[in-house]
Amino acid sequence: MKFFVDTAEVDQIKELNDLGMVDGVTTNPSLILKSGRDILEVTREIAELVDGPVSAEVVALDADAMIEEGRKLAQIAGNIAVKVPLTWAGLKACKVLSDEGNMVNVTLCFSANQALLAAKAGATFISPFIGRLDDINLDGMELISDIRQIYDNYGYETQILAASIRTVNHAYQAALIGADVMTAPPAVIKKMADHPLTDAGLDQFMEDWAKTGQKIV
Ligand code: E4P
Repeated sequence: MKFFVDTAEVDQIKELNDLGMVDGVTTNPSLILKSGRDILEVTREIAELVDGPVSAEVVALDADAMIEEGRKLAQIAGNIAVKVPLTWAGLKACKVLSDEGNMVNVTLCFSANQALLAAKAGATFISPFIGRLDDINLDGMELISDIRQIYDNYGYETQILAASIRTVNHAYQAALIGADVMTAPPAVIKKMADHPLTDAGLDQFMEDWAKTGQKIV
């Protein structure tokens, strides 16, 4: 499973990237706002840092304007994936931008039918939002599972990018189902290393080691 980091905070991306944990990055207008950075500048910086796809989102609502913005974002670097919303206009923009050879990430996907349309429009990635479905008492993971089955039924190559991941359990379940990619905030990725039995076991080893009076170096 590929790990994308869902942030525009360069320091946090760098920390995980140095550990080999980063296969790509996703940003969105809210994350750009949070970073306080200029979209073109920060996207360029991230794209230079990371080898894999860096998603940068258009903000226009009609297809022609999305295409114009998408072309500009794609010019930032060779590893930009243009992010478009899952609207009819977004699907039109997806088709044009992907036909031009750009990676396209279709975002704000909340149904399997939407994912099917994105695949037909040539999306490189489809981003179903797990956490936001859970927020309204729907099952985000069931959506990942449905899209996996539908894409496998017909051999669509669009990659399932499990998004809006809020917990380590989301990450685990998305991996079990076979999402191609997950994008998660740095804190969730780091939390995947935690286990209370690891902590308890380490405490015991440290206690016993101290009693040996030995040193390794
Ligand atoms: C994905 O590309 C989105 O940026 C992100 O996963 C949204 O997550 P949220 O629902 O926690 O804001």
